[in-house]
Amino acid sequence: MKKIKGIIFDLDGVIVFTDKFHYLAWKDMADSINTYFDETINNRLRGVSRMASLEIILEKYKGKPLSQEEKEALAEKKNTLYREYLKTMTPNDVTQEVRDTLTELRRRGYKLSIGSSSKNAKFILERVDLTSYFDAISDGTNITKSKPDPEVFLKGAEFLGLRPEECAVVEDAYAGIDAAKDGGMLGVAIGDATNYRRSDYCLTTFSDLLKLFK
Ligand code: BG6
Ligand code: MG
Repeated sequence: MKKIKGIIFDLDGVIVFTDKFHYLAWKDMADSINTYFDETINNRLRGVSRMASLEIILEKYKGKPLSQEEKEALAEKKNTLYREYLKTMTPNDVTQEVRDTLTELRRRGYKLSIGSSSKNAKFILERVDLTSYFDAISDGTNITKSKPDPEVFLKGAEFLGLRPEECAVVEDAYAGIDAAKDGGMLGVAIGDATNYRRSDYCLTTFSDLLKLFK
């Protein structure tokens, strides 16, 4: 573990839990076009970009073909409602365990970055008062390919001034672990991703990071 100098964190499902907001906003959008949508389909959207998420939801769509403009309008409608839900978030939505762990990792000399597919990442970090805990933010606004492509993490490493092999990624999604591994980084799993065979290390709880990164 000696060569690891930077840790890149996925946001949704690792640091904050916005799944329910994504679900409610996508459900509203799906209902508006009479399309079946449930929690199981919502789980497939983890780490996937907004437009790619819409395509997954449209697998169940049975209406007349939608133009690109109509699809963009549906994604926009979802995002407007999603951001209304995000506005209800406060610093209490981040646990003290997460704050203390991030602070201690930095004190130990690790550089920290966010690596999120979300274009709302900076907005969320501001809402929960966590922006200042990170040295860099790589998110949906600086990438062209979303996870499982490694781009968001490679950018995170670059923003930290580190090589990929000097970075570890903390992820809850299989697509995120694939992105980390394909980018040449260490894949540290939490939540769902702990069941994935490509994960290098599994965390039971966030503060286990302090045992991994001394
Ligand atoms: C990821 C979420 O972090 O961001 C996905 O896991 C989401 O579910 C993606 O689709 C894009 O988010 P946004 O905020 O740009 O619509
Ligand atoms: Mg996630």
